Amino acid sequence: MNTFGRELRITTFGESHGRAIGVVIDGVPAGLPLTEEDIRRELDRRMFCHIHWLNPRCEPEEFEILSGVKDGHTQGTPIAIVIWNKKAISSYYDELWMKPRPGHADLAYYLKYGKFYDHRGGGRASGRTTAAIVAAGAVAKKLLALVGAEVAGHIVELGGVEVKRPYTFEDVKKSWEKPLPVVDDDALATMLEVLRKNAAEGDSVGGGVEIWAVGAPQGLGEPHFGKVKADLAHAAFSVPAVVALDWGAGRQLAKMRGSEANDPIVVKGGKPALETNKIGGVLGGITIGEPLYFRVWLKPTPSVRKPQRTVDLAKMEPATLQFKGRYDVSVVPKALVALEAMTAITLADHLLRAGVIRRDRPLKDPVV
Ligand SMILES: Cc1cc2nc3c(=O)[nH]c(=O)nc-3n(C[C@H](O)[C@H](O)[C@H](O)COP(=O)(O)O)c2cc1C
Repeated sequence: MNTFGRELRITTFGESHGRAIGVVIDGVPAGLPLTEEDIRRELDRRMFCHIHWLNPRCEPEEFEILSGVKDGHTQGTPIAIVIWNKKAISSYYDELWMKPRPGHADLAYYLKYGKFYDHRGGGRASGRTTAAIVAAGAVAKKLLALVGAEVAGHIVELGGVEVKRPYTFEDVKKSWEKPLPVVDDDALATMLEVLRKNAAEGDSVGGGVEIWAVGAPQGLGEPHFGKVKADLAHAAFSVPAVVALDWGAGRQLAKMRGSEANDPIVVKGGKPALETNKIGGVLGGITIGEPLYFRVWLKPTPSVRKPQRTVDLAKMEPATLQFKGRYDVSVVPKALVALEAMTAITLADHLLRAGVIRRDRPLKDPVV
């Protein structure tokens, strides 16, 4: 399946070293203001080219909106966005044919698709494909803005270095002014050192990010299989290299007693609300108008320059593989932007599903 969502549907396509990657976004109502700058802004956030050893491929992300937008507004028809692959160097992958990289999807693709899979740059499994997700996320973020909701995330752990200081949602958004979105300057400096060391040694590191969605209205999500939390988990695990997810206070909650874990219900501005929000804004799979937040953990980048043991599938013999191509020392920074995008796409889908935003009439008559 390359399609995600119910009322707002995205279908992505493309391989890392093919001509292009891209996305078709269906379900966006007519009349949403949308320009190339909206897409460009989000694609730029995913690049991190200012740290050149972090993103050696540094694609210029040349894209075109092929359909669905006219005179700066959506038409209510499918929006197709194509992002050209300009900086692929496929020769690095010649010696990797039939020698699957440990930790990458090569082995699974070979077992499922035989010799028909594209191994160059990780093919369809490449992190490169997340640029298409990010382009769709730019559109979804604009839909969320219609109801005053916004999504932003930051890095909470990288290469074993954790952010420990308290922070607010404003701190999270402001952290994007730094070289990497990390709220704590000391942690950021150590993370950059760890990344540089791993780049020099030809190794890689994993880490964790936290995604916030603030301003989402109450009542999104349905029992039993349309729970917002379940859909966001599906969304998050669709991003390559994701290995775990902690909702709200997550595993900390699992260590508490019920009396401690429960968020007291209080009256705020004449409405029921939570005094604390350890549960991350969702009860019974349904939003309650409190901020949503969750942490997503990512494994280290599979491609490293150190020798790794694999099998030559043509000879069915042990082989040693030493990767010479370019790789992301950590997938975490770029994956963060993809996870923000998937969160925005999921919530925008739920806004349409709940009828908060209608797709059957132009947005100049919004119901919101
Ligand atoms: C944004 C992003 C960038 C990535 N960059 C690389 C990379 O440069 N080299 C690599 O081997 N894997 C990279 N990955 C990870 C692989 O895509 C991923 O590990 C692989 O598809 C196997 O999927 P799985 O880890 O979910 O099982 C990246 C992932 C993401 C999300």
